[in-house]
Amino acid sequence: MTQIKAAITAVHGNLPDYILTNKELEQMVDTSDEWISTRTGIRERRILKGEGLGTSDMGAKAVSGLLEKRGVDPSEVDMVLCATVTPDMKFPAAANLISHKAGIKNAFSYDMNAACSGFLYALVTAANYVESGNYKKVVVVGADKMSSIVDYTDRQTCVLFGDAACAVLLEPTQEDVGVLDHKFATDGAGWIHLHMKAGGSLKPPSHETVDAREHYIYQEGQPVFKFAVTKMADASLDVMKNNNLSTGDVSWLVPHQANMRIIEATGRRMNIPAEKVMVNIHKYGNTTNATIPLCLWDYENQLNKGDNIILTAFGGGFTWGAIWLKWAY
Ligand code: UT7
Repeated sequence: MTQIKAAITAVHGNLPDYILTNKELEQMVDTSDEWISTRTGIRERRILKGEGLGTSDMGAKAVSGLLEKRGVDPSEVDMVLCATVTPDMKFPAAANLISHKAGIKNAFSYDMNAACSGFLYALVTAANYVESGNYKKVVVVGADKMSSIVDYTDRQTCVLFGDAACAVLLEPTQEDVGVLDHKFATDGAGWIHLHMKAGGSLKPPSHETVDAREHYIYQEGQPVFKFAVTKMADASLDVMKNNNLSTGDVSWLVPHQANMRIIEATGRRMNIPAEKVMVNIHKYGNTTNATIPLCLWDYENQLNKGDNIILTAFGGGFTWGAIWLKWAY
């Protein structure tokens, strides 16, 4: 019997209208367009403005657009996974709210939190459901309203992040395409360098935690930078080696978009030429769980069936990993 594989059959994103430029950030904190551009590669990012709008609103728009694009009725969807660090509420899951807002009634849904690696982990989890043969249409959404946890008085982090959502549809195939292999890892000792100090069970919200601005991203940039450069390249090279893929076999490298210097260093360590490395950080900044699907969406017109694609991410946790994907359309 031919093994069932899980293929991405559509990708669609949602970007809020509001564009926060480096120039505007210059008015908010002691920074400059020059510093942000040269140190990070980011020129602008999107921000979800408006009362009563959360991560699920971007996620639902991405999912509705995705299903429409593929001609799938919401009633056909079996499962929705949302990778996010900024669910609308601590519970229920953003995935449930996304399903509700997108009119998906016959699916079960839940969230996954692996910080910036979340979309990759969710993609492999979803692929396993499809490969079981029991699920035919599975949606994976990477969505984050990072502006809800960014301290806009902290110049070290506020220039980096943006809001967005992007979704893919996974369907079974018997062709040699889809999510083919992965290499994932975590190191919990890394928590110290990137986390949110309060709001969890360790330090529940209080007047004191709010006054101390502890409900925002805390990041020590340099250690995260160093780990990101080595771990994304190493995980990608491991996946390639395990599958006898040479550099020349790789059509595209899709790195998490956290810093242009990390993206370039990863490509260099892997010996992948710059024109094969997907980049959109200049337009959207670091959208955490949305960066990788947003790259696929942006480059969709340049992809061909059978392209070998390496997806790789590094993020809070620490979490990191790489996926070997063969494009299916
Ligand atoms: O997606 C999750 C994973 N996250 C990442 O992968 C992020 C990894 N880290 C990074 O991308 C970089 O470390 C940052 C972009 C966060 C920072 O860049 P850096 O080159 O590591 O800068 P730095 O932290 O070493 O700071 C250099 C200088 C400091 O000033 P002094 O001490 O040299 O006087 C900072 O205070 O730049 C200063 N600085 C800024 N200056 C202007 C920090 N942020 C800013 C800013 N504007 N926004």
